[in-house]
Amino acid sequence: MLSATFTLDPAFTVAPVSRRTFGSFVEHMGRCVYTGIYEPSHPTADADGFRRDVLELTRELGVSIVRYPGGNFVSGYRWEDGVGPVADRPVRRDLAWHSLETNEVGIDEFARWAGKAGVEIMYALNLGTRGVQEALDVQEYLNHPDRTRLAELRRANGSPEPYGVRMFCLGNELDGEWQTGHKTAQEYGRLAAETARAMRSAEPWLELVACGSSGSSMPTFAAWEAEVLELTYDAVDYISAHAYYEPLDGDLDSFLASAVDMDHVVDSVVATADSVGAKLKSRKRLKISFDEWNVWYQSRLEASRETEWRVAPRVIEDCYNVADAVVVGNLLISLLRHSDRVTAACQAQLVNVIAPIRTEPGGPAWRQTIFHPFALTARLARGEVLRVEPRGPVYETARYGEAPVIDAVATHDAESGEVTVFVVNRSRTEGVELTVALTGFGAGLRVAESWTLADDDLSAANTADQPDRVVPRPAESVAVDGGVLRATLPPVSWTAIRLAA
Ligand code: AHR
Repeated sequence: MLSATFTLDPAFTVAPVSRRTFGSFVEHMGRCVYTGIYEPSHPTADADGFRRDVLELTRELGVSIVRYPGGNFVSGYRWEDGVGPVADRPVRRDLAWHSLETNEVGIDEFARWAGKAGVEIMYALNLGTRGVQEALDVQEYLNHPDRTRLAELRRANGSPEPYGVRMFCLGNELDGEWQTGHKTAQEYGRLAAETARAMRSAEPWLELVACGSSGSSMPTFAAWEAEVLELTYDAVDYISAHAYYEPLDGDLDSFLASAVDMDHVVDSVVATADSVGAKLKSRKRLKISFDEWNVWYQSRLEASRETEWRVAPRVIEDCYNVADAVVVGNLLISLLRHSDRVTAACQAQLVNVIAPIRTEPGGPAWRQTIFHPFALTARLARGEVLRVEPRGPVYETARYGEAPVIDAVATHDAESGEVTVFVVNRSRTEGVELTVALTGFGAGLRVAESWTLADDDLSAANTADQPDRVVPRPAESVAVDGGVLRATLPPVSWTAIRLAA
């Protein structure tokens, strides 16, 4: 058994927990929309064709904001194809995922779904094949109250009230060669800046996200951000970050330390943005929208590429196991730790496509393993994020060198007095005895609830037949005594402990 320790103090705050950290992503890709959120023939479908079982799971997941409609899909998308009478909407090719888009679901349907799910919309604009005018048009359709052509079109289409969308992504991953309308940083930076300025002249309150790199392994990582921000710094509020993780060549040790890389991505993007700010003599501090992150077995993508033109094919429907769930819990710890700069994040994606929720057409919906750490973190992280500096053992990884065995973050809700600790044990073989000194919280804290996700079989997963094979269980050996919290963390585990006064 290993041991680790840290101290919590209510005075050592990072920033408030941003609800937008618990965002998700619905892309017109595979079966995320069709037979995911929308399936009019499904037994649980409501009058608008939305699966009620998926809506319920979305609410249970605790999602706050949903990025829509892509992803790579958006870079060839014409938003106006998806409005008006459904029978008149065109079927189009989606070049990003080599499939057919029927446009049965468009922005009006998605906004209706978002209202039912109780989530904010983060709208991604097509700056791949389109430009300033089309961005202004969709903004007018979404947000202008009345009298203009596109506001009246929205009203005629059944939505008299503007949607009031605040957050817009200025394109998607335009640094990537695979992106339709891929651009150089100069080309993209100019277009993003002009689009942002024009949109803001109509609605100064918008929150605009410039595209950062599509991943830290891109050869242009950081240089892309620097060049784009030199052109957009004053016009935007956020720079985006994307990161996906998987165990490469069976290297579980490195995979379990994926959050080390996420920390590095955030630190690098913050450093780059701040250096541009300093150069421009600006006091403004940009925030990060980590609007695509997850575990994704990307190495399997090529083999599963579509060759037919089909509607809603099964694309990247990764089935997640226990280790994946522990990594997802750890990535959320990393995002929370950076709450001073990362104030929006979207797990990619919500349903079927690398998703916490899986469905079968006409059949059940169930929670994948990764659903659980997300839902618990979204429910329990409240108030202020506290700085946590764990002391404990380290282990060697091939990808990231020496990595800490435990990683943790905590939140403190001053109003209720509650403290929640989120902690992972990355060791594959050893349990960890954790000791947390609750300095400055007084003596009255007790364990209100505690959950651990772990299993002797790290490859165990949830399926349609066994939807609850992997669930969080009450944590063992958790106690508070004399202002000290003690817990035993099993090997490869994610744990959440809520303490109440
Ligand atoms: O989420 C899947 C894809 O990953 C998105 O479409 C794209 O933006 C990213 O590369």
